[in-house]
Amino acid sequence: MLEKLSHIGIAVKSIEEALTLYRDILGCSLEKIREMPERSLKVAFLDLDGTHIELLEGTGPESAISKFVEKRGGGIHHLCFNVSNIDEALESLSEEGIRLIDRQARTGAEGNPVAFLHPKSTGRVLIELEQD
Ligand code: CO
Repeated sequence: MLEKLSHIGIAVKSIEEALTLYRDILGCSLEKIREMPERSLKVAFLDLDGTHIELLEGTGPESAISKFVEKRGGGIHHLCFNVSNIDEALESLSEEGIRLIDRQARTGAEGNPVAFLHPKSTGRVLIELEQD
């Protein structure tokens, strides 16, 4: 079902500060920064030879990322894997008894259909599926 690792989502307090580490010191290339005010979210995409790091910064107290950072001080938030057909993947996971956060795919930060699986069904790892 899974084709490859698309990106690792990392929750940060400040994208500006996190770029000092990921871009300036570790040498990942910054592809773009996207503001998503409707989700109280700012996202930076860094490329590392085809795998991406997605830095997530909450821009309001109601954002799930802000809550995550407040509770845990930031860190790995989710893993995203590519699938070729997200509707089929969600149907088959549901048949296997995997709990889904999104029963239907929605449009993700990069414009592709995405859906999250419930961490209670995945050993506490938040998994995002993205159709490529
Ligand atoms: Co993601």
